[in-house]
Amino acid sequence: MSHSFTVNERPVEVDAPDMTPLLSVLRDRLGLTGAKPGCAEGRCGACTVLVDDRPVVSCLTPVALTEGRAVRTVEGLADPDGPLNPLQDALLEHGGVQCGACTPGILMALTALFEQDAGPDEAAVKESLAGNICRCTGYHKIVEAALAVAGNGGRS
Ligand code: FES
Ligand code: FES
Repeated sequence: MSHSFTVNERPVEVDAPDMTPLLSVLRDRLGLTGAKPGCAEGRCGACTVLVDDRPVVSCLTPVALTEGRAVRTVEGLADPDGPLNPLQDALLEHGGVQCGACTPGILMALTALFEQDAGPDEAAVKESLAGNICRCTGYHKIVEAALAVAGNGGRS
């Protein structure tokens, strides 16, 4: 079955069974390895991408559900040769990245939040990250980074 959608604004057409996880399509077919395979059960958030601007766990999202939709991955947040975006910069600056396994999913969850509200408070930041497990940072530095960006109206 052929599925057409966009990934980071680029139209793609993928021939795959309807129930193929979007995560596999992104990583194995499209070479976009930013979204990480963690639990594969929808519990860790490492595979989070945006579909029509909403965060989804791509390990549990069948490719058929993306038909005609806009998928965004961490690769789409900054140009390959360009500067990092404000959230990426802030995470690095505040030590919110250690092993990095959770980072792409966290960036996508925060991106969705900041697109709704450029100045979220701590509760909103924490709520947006409720589905993302980080085993390294204890979240404090991640939240601190997000609030630093929020304090600048979404800019770093
Ligand atoms: S790999 Fe998808 S939520 Fe863990
Ligand atoms: S930085 Fe290691 S899991 Fe979050």
